[in-house]
Amino acid sequence: MLSNMQVGTRKDIKTLAKQKRITVNDKLVQSAATHIDPKHDVVKVDGNQVEYLENITLMMHKPRGFLSSTKDPSGPTVMDLVPDDLALFDFSIAGRLDKDATGLLILTTDGKLVHDVISPNKDVYKTYDVITEKPVDNADALLKPMQLYDAHDRLYDVKTPQLIEVEGHFVRLAICEGKFHQVKRMFEAIGHKVKTLKRIKIHNLELDPKLAEGEVKVLNDDDIALLVKK
Ligand code: URA
Repeated sequence: MLSNMQVGTRKDIKTLAKQKRITVNDKLVQSAATHIDPKHDVVKVDGNQVEYLENITLMMHKPRGFLSSTKDPSGPTVMDLVPDDLALFDFSIAGRLDKDATGLLILTTDGKLVHDVISPNKDVYKTYDVITEKPVDNADALLKPMQLYDAHDRLYDVKTPQLIEVEGHFVRLAICEGKFHQVKRMFEAIGHKVKTLKRIKIHNLELDPKLAEGEVKVLNDDDIALLVKK
């Protein structure tokens, strides 16, 4: 449990036990192999309680220039932005962003949560702020039936987006799919090039305005409830 919670490596935990620094329900533990019930037993290291989390979910404010990938030897990835004490968890990304896109990115160890956010059957809306090269005077065209190519060059029918705001070069819209370059390709289809793309919301969870680009925070159960459809 202690190594899963990233207190240290298995070897470190053995050393802590030998040094009599671990207690379970206030009794000293002699061996790192002691079995515990992580939901009920109180485990402390040096008197500080170590809470057992079944899963851990992070909100990241993704900056430009980082790949939404958990491993890519060819360049910087969003994992490079995860602080060391969290980086040992086995994160998956619940809905990638392009390398040049910014904004709300969710990293989680919870496979079901990933599925609930990205599954095409769930129709979870993701809201994007788009800045285009030219002013957008034909945004209504985004609401007309549209076919685009996905990452495998297969045509698909785009589900109608929600057009939230249009003001000159700025468009705020929400889409309920997450196909390859979808927002950029939707704008291309109506004759516009996207200059910047920022995701600001997934379902009801908004990007925390206090989170600077490149920063992450651990989400609590209330935050996670805003992310998934009931
Ligand atoms: N649409 C895009 O074109 N890129 C993203 O990163 C997300 C949505």
